[in-house]
Amino acid sequence: MDIEAIEQDLSERLSKKRFTHTLGVVEAARALARIYGVNEEDAHIAALLHDCGKELSLQDMQLLVQDIPCDDEMFANGALLHGLAGMVLAQSRYGVTKQDVLEAIRVHTTGKPNMSELDKIIFLADYIEKNRDFPGVDFIREAANKSLNEGVLAGYDMTIRHLLDKGLSIYVLTILGRNDILQHMRGGN
Ligand SMILES: [Fe+2]
Ligand SMILES: [Fe+2]
Repeated sequence: MDIEAIEQDLSERLSKKRFTHTLGVVEAARALARIYGVNEEDAHIAALLHDCGKELSLQDMQLLVQDIPCDDEMFANGALLHGLAGMVLAQSRYGVTKQDVLEAIRVHTTGKPNMSELDKIIFLADYIEKNRDFPGVDFIREAANKSLNEGVLAGYDMTIRHLLDKGLSIYVLTILGRNDILQHMRGGN
């Protein structure tokens, strides 16, 4: 499907709130891609589809990912699993074949070590899109304007703090991803 057809399909399948968020992520992702010299069309497609699996039931997500290796913690939690399920849907329903676009959809919630620039852009755009108004969002927006790594670090920090405050477990790749960003920032790249 081309971008227009994907957008039309999502407008019919997602709730109004999720679709509005999705369009906000597209706008933010394109802006970041422009600033940081990443392919804007890839950013557009990944942003458009990043939450395409989010509103499925946990059972439907699990069906989609049944042939893909996935740890128990992620498999049992739709908040974690919707990235992987969304990646499968992006491939099977929307015909996305570019590996780096699919990967950005897969990791947008958890992060991971060694994220590509496109991965970081989708991860960040999801936090800072214009409809977001949680406390601390402006700090992440400012960090994102300094560098992708500063922005992603601010995003990790906010998520980890939130999980701690709520007494929830922290997915291990999120911690490894944050450590990796810190290492890169200390290394000066
Ligand atoms: Fe998401
Ligand atoms: Fe999202």
